Amino acid sequence: MPPTSLTLPSFGKINLGLKVLGKRGDGYHDICTVFQTISLHDTLELALSDELTLSCNRSGIPTDARNLVIKAAMELRALSGTNLGAEIRLTKRIPSPGGLGGGSSNAATALIALSRLWDLRIDLPGLNAIAAKLGSDVPFFLLGGTALGTGRGTKIEHLPDVSAPNILLICPNINVSTAEAFAGLDAPNLTTEESNRILQICRFKATARDFRAADLENDFEQSVFRRFPEIDRARQALIEFGAQAAMMSGSGASVYGIFDKEETRQTALKALDNELNWRKFAVATLSRDQYEAALF
Ligand code: C5P
Repeated sequence: MPPTSLTLPSFGKINLGLKVLGKRGDGYHDICTVFQTISLHDTLELALSDELTLSCNRSGIPTDARNLVIKAAMELRALSGTNLGAEIRLTKRIPSPGGLGGGSSNAATALIALSRLWDLRIDLPGLNAIAAKLGSDVPFFLLGGTALGTGRGTKIEHLPDVSAPNILLICPNINVSTAEAFAGLDAPNLTTEESNRILQICRFKATARDFRAADLENDFEQSVFRRFPEIDRARQALIEFGAQAAMMSGSGASVYGIFDKEETRQTALKALDNELNWRKFAVATLSRDQYEAALF
């Protein structure tokens, strides 16, 4: 018997490096990134219902068809032909927008939860096709853990789990539009040959490098930092207070620092007490096994 209600966490992500290869014919960009799920999460509570409704604890988050959770439900309905509904309650903790994939994660979690609630037998490739339609970051959240994302970000491959238990996230109160961040890069139109060459290097680095070493790169940093120097100030503060590496996640505005010890992270957190406009979160990486155990 399928459940009549269920509650699932909807985890955030950081990008352990992000390379933009170039512009594509369809207006998107080809990228190469390492996605990593983190412990910071929203919660989705769902109950079977005749109607489809969404409520949210945070004002400013749309609860109508603009929300990816509702979009995910409508796509599932269209694909399966079901006319079942659900009363969905979303508790947000992940800053949004913030480069932490909150909305994308909510969409993927809704796909997983509603498939179960509505007893739909859609296989992973089927769910993946809907996820890619909903947004470039959504397919990753059907897998979780550490993964390489290529193409628009929707081609996902397993990578060995990266474990970083002492991460400090800083979310400055700045909205960076992803579309504007991509446009601001003024990326070239690449030939397939050039694109493949860069991709090969990126893939090699992604599988070979030590993520705690200081060789993390995010191609958005330069242009986003130029527009919003405060984001760079947050990144530098993390380094100053002892992070081994610090970097912006996605197109920002969140930055994360990786610390070797809990005590160092605690000291940094204390030192940042007077930065009242920055939200801070002590988080850890979440492995694929932990992700699967929480969601499936
Ligand atoms: O896929 P998603 O809806 O999250 O993307 C938001 C916007 O970011 C897109 O409309 C596009 O302008 C830009 N984008 C891009 N290349 C990607 C992902 C997103 O240009 N790989």
